[in-house]
Amino acid sequence: MKLLFVGDVVGSPGRDMVSEYVPMLKKKYQPAMTIINGENAASGRGITEKIYKQFLHAGADMVTLGNHSWDNREIFQFIDDAKALVRPANYPEGTPGVGIQFHTVMQKTIAVINLQGTTFLPPLDDPFRKADELIEMAKKKTSIIFVDFHAEATSEKLAMGWYLDGRVTAVVGTHTHVQTADQRVLPNGTAYLTDVGMTGPYNEILGMSKEAVIKRFLTQLPVRFEVPKDGPTQLSACLITIDPKSGKATKIERILINQDNPFTPET
Ligand SMILES: [Fe+2]
Ligand SMILES: [Fe+2]
Repeated sequence: MKLLFVGDVVGSPGRDMVSEYVPMLKKKYQPAMTIINGENAASGRGITEKIYKQFLHAGADMVTLGNHSWDNREIFQFIDDAKALVRPANYPEGTPGVGIQFHTVMQKTIAVINLQGTTFLPPLDDPFRKADELIEMAKKKTSIIFVDFHAEATSEKLAMGWYLDGRVTAVVGTHTHVQTADQRVLPNGTAYLTDVGMTGPYNEILGMSKEAVIKRFLTQLPVRFEVPKDGPTQLSACLITIDPKSGKATKIERILINQDNPFTPET
């Protein structure tokens, strides 16, 4: 069985890529489950209920978040009812939402865990110990466990991959918005990729206007970052092949669609 994961969707250019390509990717690869990281989906900051539903309509079974989870305040109105939305699990106790959700398809249950790194990011609970806790809980229901590790440092992501090797199906990184080329299945059967990359503007900087980002670097003055609406776009994703009996991954492939890497519908 296969699982498709789409990296950080940024603003309307990213949402348009999801609407256009997720149905085609599903047709081509036939994944049993599709997950989208939507932490930047609303103008680069957070997510709204309308966008969450748009992702489900486009074919997502689950939506994960990250450090921008709360940037759009609308989330507090719908997160309690959103059964396919996962925010980082290592937020302080009492935080709205949940850090793990289960999805059942073809008589198989898949656990989806979202965790946030603490290196160069706010000091949350220890994501490693939180992972131990959630895996123990998830194992009572299923051996198929997908982890979206939303983290800045490559070292922290690699550490999580190796720490969880053999205990989860996949540890896939998000947040840095640039796809890395280190996809592999670790020795004990965990698929790993440091970062899936982002889905949105292609000729900008991490999805934000390059002029604004360059101005910030040149002047160090406060500059408001916006998602440019025009220009070429990209979609970054990965496809994981899973042995449903053992919950181990057998393969992980990167997917990148942009003007330099056009999508081919045929398999
Ligand atoms: Fe992001
Ligand atoms: Fe992020």
